[in-house]
Amino acid sequence: MLDFEFKNPTKIIFGKNKIASLAKEIPAKAKVLLLYGGGSIKENGIYEQVTTALEQHEVVEFGGIPANPEYAVLIEALKVIKSENITFLLAVGGGSVIDGTKFLASAALYEGNDPWDILAKPIRTEIGMPFGTVLTLPATGSEMNSGAVITRAALELKLGMGGPGLFPQFSILDPQVIASLPHRQIANGIVDAFTHVLEQYVTYSVGASLQDRIAEGILQTLIETAPIITKDPGNYEAASNLMWSCTMALNGLIQKGVVSDWSIHAIGHELTALYGIDHARTLAIICPSLYRYKIETKKEKLAQMATRIWGINEGTSLEKATIAINKIEEFFRSLGIATSLKIYTKTYQMAPELISRRLETRGWIALGEHKDITPSDVEKIVEMSL
Ligand code: NZQ
Ligand code: ZN
Repeated sequence: MLDFEFKNPTKIIFGKNKIASLAKEIPAKAKVLLLYGGGSIKENGIYEQVTTALEQHEVVEFGGIPANPEYAVLIEALKVIKSENITFLLAVGGGSVIDGTKFLASAALYEGNDPWDILAKPIRTEIGMPFGTVLTLPATGSEMNSGAVITRAALELKLGMGGPGLFPQFSILDPQVIASLPHRQIANGIVDAFTHVLEQYVTYSVGASLQDRIAEGILQTLIETAPIITKDPGNYEAASNLMWSCTMALNGLIQKGVVSDWSIHAIGHELTALYGIDHARTLAIICPSLYRYKIETKKEKLAQMATRIWGINEGTSLEKATIAINKIEEFFRSLGIATSLKIYTKTYQMAPELISRRLETRGWIALGEHKDITPSDVEKIVEMSL
């Protein structure tokens, strides 16, 4: 196992009707900016629960943060934070609203001239404005980590940021919110969380048995829960297992003491920036091809996965690894998620060259746990994903 330090200060408040406990978590004298997305919270009762809980607080609202949170919209919210002297941010939404709020938590205290530098350079956020979240969509793990990904459509960019100052102070996780989610978002959430685990597991072994077992536990729970929750989003037991699995997949725990990869995400973000494809779907497109391309270096972990998750005991490591990749792809497809780029866009032909060139221009010269995935490898991987 590798050396590590682990600190995760986010308080999780998990369970039925926990949104009611919101007021206790925010200082009574705080001036709160309630941030939300395109309006789903006004249709499913979450907005009402939040505003009722905050009746005694001074609250200003900012809605309209789109999926793949847009920089230009967030700059409008930043103006509100400054003009209204906001002291506490409350994100009510999925990964997009929470990530947008993290950008604001950083930008509100940023002393430089241009908040874009936080993303473009990027600048690590040591101290951010305090914020909490009410999670409405289990997927990203953003509710218990300190990272965010922000889109700037005008520049066709989707860039990451983060730092220890960007952990939510608290996150309220009420699995009942899943009941109003469309199938597309539930499927996305499952694939996103599944791939988060893969990016921290399908590398090479460093003898970290516990991390491996926790990772495999999350994968197994997602596989078991997927058919139940997609059929019946109101099933509370399945909803709670999905929600906690998604949080655990990316709250830092399984990444500690092991080697991680994140190249599927790096390439996937380019697909979102270029074609507007949902985040999780970009992962489903890239993952099987990347693993097929890198099977030699990843085969031991993939074979372990085949044995422990799908009970495959026969064959060489290479044969088992091949089965694991096919099973991963089948799992994504079982959720109705296509794994080839051409299903999502008519202008796919240029993607391999375009993406490798964009990554190269930004100085991403080597991805992967061995830092051996070069721009020309990226080109071949995207080619295989068409
Ligand atoms: O905007 P509204 O109207 O609220 O609708 C949203 C949105 O259209 C809807 N929704 C959310 N909760 C709902 C609901 N509809 C009905 N009932 C509910 N309870 O779902 C749609 C998608 O929401 P979004 O927040 O975009 O989805 P998700 O949580 O998948 O977040 C995706 C974003 O997170 C980033 C992605 O790149 C993407 O930008 N990620 C963030 C990460 C992090 N911070 O750690 C890690 C991930 O790898 C990922 O990159
Ligand atoms: Zn993701």
